[in-house]
Amino acid sequence: MDLKTKLEELAESSMTAIKNSDTLDEIETLRVQLLGKKGALTDLLKMMKDLEASERPVVGKLANEIRDDLTERITDKKEELEQQALNEQLKEETIDVTLPGRQYKKGQTHVIHQVMEEMEDLFLGMGYKIISGSEIVSDYLNFERVNVPQDHPARDMQDSFYINDHYLLRTQTSAVQPLIIEAHDFSQGPLKVISPGKVYRRDSDDATHSHQFHQIEGIVVDENITMADLMGTLEVMSKEIFGADRRVRFRPSYFPFTEPSVEVDVSCFNCDGAGCRICKHSGWIEILGAGMIHPNVLEMSHVDSTKYSGFAFGVGPDRMAMLKYGVDDIRHFFLNDQRFLSQFHQKGEE
Ligand code: DAH
Repeated sequence: MDLKTKLEELAESSMTAIKNSDTLDEIETLRVQLLGKKGALTDLLKMMKDLEASERPVVGKLANEIRDDLTERITDKKEELEQQALNEQLKEETIDVTLPGRQYKKGQTHVIHQVMEEMEDLFLGMGYKIISGSEIVSDYLNFERVNVPQDHPARDMQDSFYINDHYLLRTQTSAVQPLIIEAHDFSQGPLKVISPGKVYRRDSDDATHSHQFHQIEGIVVDENITMADLMGTLEVMSKEIFGADRRVRFRPSYFPFTEPSVEVDVSCFNCDGAGCRICKHSGWIEILGAGMIHPNVLEMSHVDSTKYSGFAFGVGPDRMAMLKYGVDDIRHFFLNDQRFLSQFHQKGEE
């Protein structure tokens, strides 16, 4: 086969190959194979030197035309493929504004705080103020000023985390009592306060104990406050939180800061008093401690205990949440497991 025919065949087959190239990679490979230094066309051109002198200009011209033609075709094809790739990319990156947006999960109020807020709403409705206290207090405020002297055995039950010799993480919200009572101006009306917050004890953690938990302290002081006021208030509270058909029971008890003292039980939400595993077969569940504020506590806060009297109570919202929702381990509340926490929705939260 002579060179001219070879060139024509190469031109023919190359045109088909260019046409059939689908990707930029393919066309680039083809360009190198045809027009590169070691390419097919270059190889054929090297054979020019073997031609008759008379043939060279003719074949040379043809070879140049073929090279120019192929170069142009390859460039065109490249542009076409580049445009195609760009179009596809644009198509993929088009924003479809009719698609729904990405859903972000909204947070929700922690179940303990839901119970606390429910209590706050209730007591605000009964004319109470909310005052929160410091979590780091002197042992003097945490104990002495609520009538628990240095060597009182009650201190053993409330071992805590000391910051130094005199300051500790409060073991009870009762530690807010002294300053709140002391600061109250009785010419402005009765003292009615609740104080919710965190407390700490060096308990070993188990299903019903955690080294950190919550309390809500209630304090009412005025002239002629009696045990009947305390009982009425706690009965309203219990029924509001646990349901109107719950019964409330008061048992005599002992706390250093109240005299007399009571512990308050509500009839078991699960068995309605018949006895079950949750109420340890007693039919009742203890929810709080309370009593008439000890005269010593009033006097230490410069309140005349012959003129004024009051009641106080301390209730655990963690305990309440466990009872309300049948949660059997207090530690669930503090592990931050979304699968657990997201089950408790408050009104208005989804
Ligand atoms: N501070 C007590 C405790 O942590 C609870 C308590 C009992 C608070 C009786 C009171 C009260 O105000 O009157 O165990």
